[in-house]
Amino acid sequence: MSDTLPWIEKYRPESLDDIYGQQEIITTVHKFIQTGKLPHLLFYGPPGTGKTSTIIAVAREIYGKNYKNMVLELNASDDRGIDVVRNQIKNFASTRQIFNQGNSFKLIILDEADAMTNAAQNSLRRIIEKFTKNCRFCILANYSHKLNPALISRCTRFRFHPIDTEAIRERIKVVITKEQVDIDAKAVDALVQLSKGDMRRALNVLQACKAATAGSIDLDMIYECIGAPHPQDIETVLDSILKDDWTTAYITINKFKTTKGLALIDLIAGFVDILNNYKLNNKTRVGILKGLSDIEYGISKGGNDKIQSSAIIGVIKSAMENE
Ligand SMILES: Nc1ncnc2c1ncn2[C@@H]1O[C@H](COP(=O)(O)OP(=O)(O)OP(=O)(O)O)[C@@H](O)[C@H]1O
Ligand SMILES: [Mg+2]
Repeated sequence: MSDTLPWIEKYRPESLDDIYGQQEIITTVHKFIQTGKLPHLLFYGPPGTGKTSTIIAVAREIYGKNYKNMVLELNASDDRGIDVVRNQIKNFASTRQIFNQGNSFKLIILDEADAMTNAAQNSLRRIIEKFTKNCRFCILANYSHKLNPALISRCTRFRFHPIDTEAIRERIKVVITKEQVDIDAKAVDALVQLSKGDMRRALNVLQACKAATAGSIDLDMIYECIGAPHPQDIETVLDSILKDDWTTAYITINKFKTTKGLALIDLIAGFVDILNNYKLNNKTRVGILKGLSDIEYGISKGGNDKIQSSAIIGVIKSAMENE
């Protein structure tokens, strides 16, 4: 059973102590629990940073093993609408608390609240007021700017930031040991960097790599699994555009697109990163950046891949004539 479980579930933090990299939040929330004064909460921040995990750990801490009886988890963006949400809350809030362990409130978790319409958010704030006597709400969202200010002002706000690389490394180490993953040091470095503060992504990529090989996980596998282009490949393509004739450069781009699954848009992002470290005169730099950003826009609007590939070569080659 536990073999088939995704690691993000298998290693979901059981208690607040297992939440990595969000120390200040955990300390404050812990104090709320100890003093028995839990306010309505708003957790917001990027995916995979521990919002859902934290509130579930909070529920465990308050209610113990039977926490599920005391917690209602709702997906606020559910397209059945706010009326359904309101009814569910009403039913939940008014049922007698059989397993009430001295707690005077139940917990209602509203996930993806930022996907709700403004009208729905407006009715939500009335719902919150109405049920405050015996319920505490925890609103989870990725973006606070999509939330109604009146809703925000009813909650104590916590911003979950991307988890820092050392905290991800620490957590990953635990999983590597428990799952006996064979992975080299450089691959761990890349995994930690490329997950960009998202623990869910780090665990998913690690599990995918482990499943894909009987041997040791190396750097290339990490890049492949995470879908990030290998910096070496980007460099090779850029070199070809700078030094080879047009046809050869075009063939090189195509080769990397087909054999390595490189998307043009990744190529452009990679070029911009690399060119930032090149010494170029201003006119060249501006020419390339302006040209590449036009192409990026063209691709996002569904522009033809062949034409856009040629345009990349054109932009870089013609700008380099200024050097
Ligand atoms: N801070 C953390 N410490 C340890 N594990 C974490 C942390 N954040 C995320 N994880 C891992 O990633 C998985 C997903 O995390 P979680 O569901 O808490 O993310 P989230 O912030 O709610 O993301 P989303 O915005 O996508 O809902 C968890 O099951 C856990 O394994
Ligand atoms: Mg979540």
